Amino acid sequence: MEDLLADRILVTDLARFRRVVDLRASGSVGLPSGHISREELAKIPAGGTFEVRDKRYYVLPCDMHDFIMDGLKRNTQIVYPKDSGYILIKLDICPGRRVAEAGTGSGALTAVFSRAVGPEGRVYSYEQDIGLVNHAAKSLRLGPEDRNVVIRHQGLEQGIHEENLDAFFLDVRDPWKLLSIVYDALKPGGHLGILVPTTNQVSRVLLAFNKTDYLVTEVAEIFLRTYKAVPARLRPMDRMIGHTGYLVFARRMQPGALSRPDAGPESPLGRRDDDGPLGYGDQDIEDD
Ligand SMILES: C[S@@+](CC[C@H](N)C(=O)[O-])C[C@H]1O[C@@H](n2cnc3c(N)ncnc32)[C@H](O)[C@@H]1O
Repeated sequence: MEDLLADRILVTDLARFRRVVDLRASGSVGLPSGHISREELAKIPAGGTFEVRDKRYYVLPCDMHDFIMDGLKRNTQIVYPKDSGYILIKLDICPGRRVAEAGTGSGALTAVFSRAVGPEGRVYSYEQDIGLVNHAAKSLRLGPEDRNVVIRHQGLEQGIHEENLDAFFLDVRDPWKLLSIVYDALKPGGHLGILVPTTNQVSRVLLAFNKTDYLVTEVAEIFLRTYKAVPARLRPMDRMIGHTGYLVFARRMQPGALSRPDAGPESPLGRRDDDGPLGYGDQDIEDD
């Protein structure tokens, strides 16, 4: 994928105003106190400043957080940076990995995945809505030669073209219907992540996992509270993103590896309610 952030800058007043400007576009840029032409903006060095009608603005190179929060046009709910950063670690995504997702939506997570897997990696993104396919391709500056991101216009139910994927992420309404089709596309031990906005959906996902050969490793929700950076009156911002979604993570196991005779429908994987999250708290157990 072409460098998404090249020729994009952030214009801010260091307070509430933040605007990501694509310098390749044409026309002037609207600011709270007036307008400035893109030609003039392009001359201001990174970290520089300018004034329009006595109001001061600052110019910075656009980073991925700026792009997702202030630059990307949203036609759907998106995966926010507070979640996508953790998703990258949980799915163990790094340069060279082959990952897939459904759906593409506005392309926020696609952008994060694309940069993380790098030029040698691949992101296969499935989206059933052609309008959103086109929207994301434009937002992500995808061209016909692009190989790092492949957007596939189809519902995931219709099949997955790839095999032996390192990781898969589901951000769709009914992820529980797609667990087995994703299983076949993942490599053994591969990572699956799911985002759903309601607890009801988490329960449905967990019940569906009960009938599969995935090991559920974590159910999580991430809170991020930012602060007013005023030393003398340090306190949280008045407004915050209160809720995005719940995250469920699992690993593809060998068929039959998890079969447990006592696993009932109320207890995914037959674990008791008071069991800790998998993998935590085991540090004290030493090898023989
Ligand atoms: C919440 S949006 C995804 C947002 C995206 N993760 C982002 O960060 O911008 C959900 C998308 O999934 C698509 N979708 C829902 N079910 C699907 C399916 N079965 N196969 C492919 N796409 C699907 C919808 O059309 C919608 O665009």
